[in-house]
Amino acid sequence: MDGWSAQLTHWYEINKRDLPWRQTRNPYFIWLSEIILQQTRVVQGLPYYERFVREFPTIQDLASSPLEQVLNCWQGLGYYSRARNLHLAAQQVVQSMQGKFPENYHDILKLKGVGPYTAAAIASFAFDLPHAVVDGNVYRVLSRHFGIHEPVDSVSGQRLYAELARRLLNTAQPAQHNQAIMEFGAMQCTPVKPQCDICIFKTSCVAFNRNEVDLLPVKVGKVKQTERFFNYLVFQVEGGTYLRERIEKDIWQNLWEFAVEESAALLEEKEIMLLLQQKFSLSAESLVIKRVSEPQRHILTHQRLLARFWLVQIFSNLQSKELIFVPYDQLGSKPLPRLIDKFIKTHPTWLD
Ligand code: ADE
Repeated sequence: MDGWSAQLTHWYEINKRDLPWRQTRNPYFIWLSEIILQQTRVVQGLPYYERFVREFPTIQDLASSPLEQVLNCWQGLGYYSRARNLHLAAQQVVQSMQGKFPENYHDILKLKGVGPYTAAAIASFAFDLPHAVVDGNVYRVLSRHFGIHEPVDSVSGQRLYAELARRLLNTAQPAQHNQAIMEFGAMQCTPVKPQCDICIFKTSCVAFNRNEVDLLPVKVGKVKQTERFFNYLVFQVEGGTYLRERIEKDIWQNLWEFAVEESAALLEEKEIMLLLQQKFSLSAESLVIKRVSEPQRHILTHQRLLARFWLVQIFSNLQSKELIFVPYDQLGSKPLPRLIDKFIKTHPTWLD
């Protein structure tokens, strides 16, 4: 299958984007870029990459920084366990690997948060080792070009794609081959509206010739999404508000939010009043409440959240084990879920 890789890399050399992680062989930088790019597209990922490299120029810097600083840098990307794993893996390298980034596939795979795709990407890009990457781009390119209808999320499908990717790999230039196939998936063989009319594989692409491009790749099991309802209480006292850290094993671990009551459906004003009396020992006369937002939809990987924010003006300090008073001008110092950050940014006047 030599010819296929040669055609692909020829296309790549002409069409590739100039991206900073392609200018380096530093495995630490490559690893950072791959973890960020699992979470977002190249254009959105670029400023995050640059910020991580600037704030944590070495893996030792990342390992010794507080988790809060790492989460702050990650803010807005979502799926924060990736950022926690980044921090843990850096500490793993410093503590158990003498501070040296592992230099072969199997040791790279031992890093927290690194799976077969990321290990193959780092091993090839940083060390030119012959490991084929298989990610969403690769599934798409291979399923279309070779007309494969096996579901990409089945065990047999994954085995088949991994084997095909391995056979196609140009072992003389694994880094270039891997970059090329992913770039081809990202730029040319795109999920919607691929540019088949100008494609170099127009004559050999099975899906194109059978008019099946839009049917591939095949995915079966869509994971069921759960629906959750969050009622946020935005307490207002002189000069600030109250936040809590989400420490439970759940979404947004170690991020900060307003006081929240989760319920089976969004609560109405009467129920919010009752909650304030029972849970926070506040009397109806000692507060003013206002419903601030329409229900806000927030979609996560496996969860659909519906959230509503209530402003609760109080006239003395709250007594609470978990809520911490935060002056308005220090809200930015805490890592916040996007839902909360967005609320704050779109309600500048609630600070008045
Ligand atoms: N997506 C994941 N890894 C990538 C890379 N190295 N270049 C461009 N896009 C990517």
